[in-house]
Amino acid sequence: MTRKPFVVANWKMNGSLKANADWIETALPQMSGTRLHCDVAVCAPSVYLSQLVKGFEHSATLVGAQNCAQYTQGAYTGEVSAGMLADIGCDLVILGHSERRTLFGETDETVAEKVKLAFDNGVMPIVCVGETLQEREAGQTIEVVSRQLRAVLNKVGIMPLVAGAVAYEPVWAIGTGKSASAEDAQAVHQALRAVLAEVDEEASKRTRILYGGSVKAKNAPELFAQPDIDGALVGGASLKAEDFLAICHCAD
Ligand code: G3H
Repeated sequence: MTRKPFVVANWKMNGSLKANADWIETALPQMSGTRLHCDVAVCAPSVYLSQLVKGFEHSATLVGAQNCAQYTQGAYTGEVSAGMLADIGCDLVILGHSERRTLFGETDETVAEKVKLAFDNGVMPIVCVGETLQEREAGQTIEVVSRQLRAVLNKVGIMPLVAGAVAYEPVWAIGTGKSASAEDAQAVHQALRAVLAEVDEEASKRTRILYGGSVKAKNAPELFAQPDIDGALVGGASLKAEDFLAICHCAD
């Protein structure tokens, strides 16, 4: 089974109308036609999604949000629903990022609820899982990421993940410059695929599992060479279009 590599930019809470326009102008010539051999997505703060949808309308680049509400609509001040993301042409949404889990109190259950609403509205979820340093040192990595993934599988099954992706992001590797070794990451990806296979073996082989955590053009080739690593979720190195494109080209 060959899975097409998928490289996703997560700008987090960065950007401006001007900076985004410059990013699009730099990246667009590379993202058109067949210059890249991977699927590409850019996930931006919600207020800029329409700008990206318009900016990438004639390219294959997907546009994603970084979160959505766990509710459909109503009195939830400040929230953005999955239906609203679909309404403006947003293709996908990152859900369960560790920054949402640790800073904003998201639980396995709320993440699963959001994945259901996203998929029901035609917005493909990229579901993040990952262990803290403390959990890794306690030997709990596989237990933690399996629990996080099963919470989603139990709620929605595997199809939303086949359509979107799973992202393994060890919390200790995010924004720290310390990436997991390719071998350690592969071991976790293999374990995650085994959890997916418990639900549907054939579908597990079609599900892309991305690695995230200090990915750069320097370490991407070794990560992408692993059999169960199907691409990357890139934070810091996605803020400059040139750096992000260099990572995309590692999937050639
Ligand atoms: O969503 C992206 C991840 O949190 C990785 O961030 O590449 O800055 O380590 P990073």
